Amino acid sequence: QGKYMVTLIEGDGIGPEISQSVKDIFSAASAPIKWESVDVTPTLKDGKTVIPDAAIASVTRNSIALKGPLATPVGKGHVSLNLTLRRTFGLFANVRPCKSIQGYKTPYDNVDTVLIRENTEGEYSGIEHVVVDGVVQSIKLITREASERVLRYAFQYARDVGRNKVRAVHKATIMKMSDGLFLSCARKISKEFPDVEFDAELLDNACLKIVSDPTPYNDKVLVMPNLYGDILSDMCAGLIGGLGLTPSGNISKDVAIFEAVHGSAPDIAGKALANPTALLLSSIMMLQHMGLYEHAEKIQNAIFKVLAEGKTITGDLGGKAKTHEYADAVIKAL
Ligand code: IPM
Ligand code: MN
Repeated sequence: QGKYMVTLIEGDGIGPEISQSVKDIFSAASAPIKWESVDVTPTLKDGKTVIPDAAIASVTRNSIALKGPLATPVGKGHVSLNLTLRRTFGLFANVRPCKSIQGYKTPYDNVDTVLIRENTEGEYSGIEHVVVDGVVQSIKLITREASERVLRYAFQYARDVGRNKVRAVHKATIMKMSDGLFLSCARKISKEFPDVEFDAELLDNACLKIVSDPTPYNDKVLVMPNLYGDILSDMCAGLIGGLGLTPSGNISKDVAIFEAVHGSAPDIAGKALANPTALLLSSIMMLQHMGLYEHAEKIQNAIFKVLAEGKTITGDLGGKAKTHEYADAVIKAL
């Protein structure tokens, strides 16, 4: 009844606790969202990780999902379910804004950059094999198709949000062929967007510069191959107060899945210690994506107010509040 159905994947570890905060705050804010919770417990089919059909059907039907963190085992075992989801729905662009929270003090003032990470290939292609004992090859796959797709998205995004500067981050000095292809695609796509400035920077230099002074990155959209985006987005999270604060959106033509940049934090799971802000900000990106700007702003303002007051914040931010106490404070601030 006037509500949008959204698939909810609560996730592992701290996932259920932080999802609960989102649900509570959304209902207190009368956000017109009806959650459809799905189970994504992986099953193995012919040696491949598969997501249960009902979960796939739900995401396909609703075309929007909010997702908590899913644990990814190190070493042998099933392929990361996170990656399986990204691949299943062709979520080719991973948008990771990194913006200082006014009132929450860090050594860096006013960070405001956006990373866009290629999300389907590169070092995450999962093509690995043992050549002989003690020698392993992992293949970094870069295709023109996926590169152009994410680059075009990045330029269009920059234009839409009025950033008007795209910077490709690469290591084409060493990865001559793979990053070289990515870079040449970037140059080509930039010609389609004459109103958007374009340049490129080596990854290592970008890391050095951004931690020294993030200000020059503020008006930019940084676009890069998969693994670089994984690492750089955690690094940038460190500039604004950590992974408890950074949201993301995984975008394809038909489907968008919003999730926090952080993992499932099994060490603090079930103790009400987790900071739900990253998932909350992801849910705000989701509302904006759906055109529900008023609800997005209302919830976001309440979050920022509580964070700036600093009285009811979680341990990762130096406070003592439990997850639900923080969520209650946000509800009061609505
Ligand atoms: C992220 C995460 C994932 C990744 C893991 C959980 C597979 O670190 O979204 O950044 O490496 O992409
Ligand atoms: Mn990561």
